[in-house]
Order: sequence, then structure tokens, then C-alpha cells
Amino acid sequence: MNSNKNLVFLGMMGSGKSSIGAMVSKQLNIPFIDIDNLIEEHAGMTISEIFKVNGEAYFRNLEEKITIKSLKHKKVVVSLGGGSFINDKIRKDILKNHFSFWLDWDDLVLIKRIKGSKKRPLASNSTDLEIKAIINKRKKVYSKANFKINCNKLTKSEIVKTIIKTYG
Ligand code: S3P
Repeated sequence: MNSNKNLVFLGMMGSGKSSIGAMVSKQLNIPFIDIDNLIEEHAGMTISEIFKVNGEAYFRNLEEKITIKSLKHKKVVVSLGGGSFINDKIRKDILKNHFSFWLDWDDLVLIKRIKGSKKRPLASNSTDLEIKAIINKRKKVYSKANFKINCNKLTKSEIVKTIIKTYG
């Protein structure tokens, strides 16, 4: 990578931001930061526990602080949580200073992956329609990313190859 910009992965819960981000980081030999992991380390609780004990607003506040701080690193791969890019301050920082990749999947694939997921408070008790409503609302924002990767027909390693090729 010739630039000091970070590579930022975004998209819905279940889109593979963490696993793809880790693979890209390994292949390019640059450090990896997983925002959800950092939030859990900082709070000493899982994300579900944070939502339960402190509520979503507290989580979003922590998410903003930790993401903005993480983005100050140079030349790292950052995997966001599904809601981070929806935050105006985070999104503006990313769009101004970094390369962003939206990992896009068919709605049905995402719904199947995340429905009932205990580690995802926004999806654990939601119906298909409720998850679809979140997807529809967020797609408009995710689409502002620099690159959209259509992941549907690709294996994980093909997704990584596409990202590295797209990035150049
Ligand atoms: C969230 C996504 C989760 C996590 C939290 C909220 C969201 O991350 O940050 O549960 O609002 O979409 P993943 O996208 O890694 O599941």
C-alpha cells in the first residue's frame, strides 16, 4: 500500500467485516483493528452485555470515541461494527481520509446469518421484516463508501482478491 490511508470495512452485521478485514490485513501485512473487539476490551463486557447494562446510546457513544481514535492510526485495516458508518462524525472522517469498502450481500443471506444471533442485540429478537427494515435504511448510507464489493457469488478468498485488486 503506497498511501497512509486506512482501509475501512463496513456493512451489515454478518457481512464478514471482521474475517475479511483480518484476511486483507494478513495478505497486505499491515495491522488490523476490529472495532467491536476494542469496544468489548475497553468495557470489559461483551456487546450484548453493554446493551443490556448500559443501553444502546451508551454503546454508540463508546463506538464513536473508539472508532475516531482508531482511525487516527496510519496505514491499518479497520473493521467497523455494522452501525459505525451510520454515525455522521465517523462517516465524514472515513470519507474524507480513508478508503472504504462496503461488503454487500443479498438481504436474505444477511437475514439468515444474523437472525437470532445472541451476540447481536439488534438482531437477536428481531423478525425478518424488522431486520429487512434496518438493511433498507442503512443501504443508502453504506452506498456512500468508496467501493461496493458484491460478495454474493464469491468465496472468502475471492472477496479478498477483489478487494486487493480494487484497491490497487
Ligand atoms: C451493530 C453491529 C454489531 C455491533 C453491535 C451493533 C449494528 O457489529 O457493533 O451489535 O448496529 O449493526 P457487527 O456488524 O460486527 O455484527
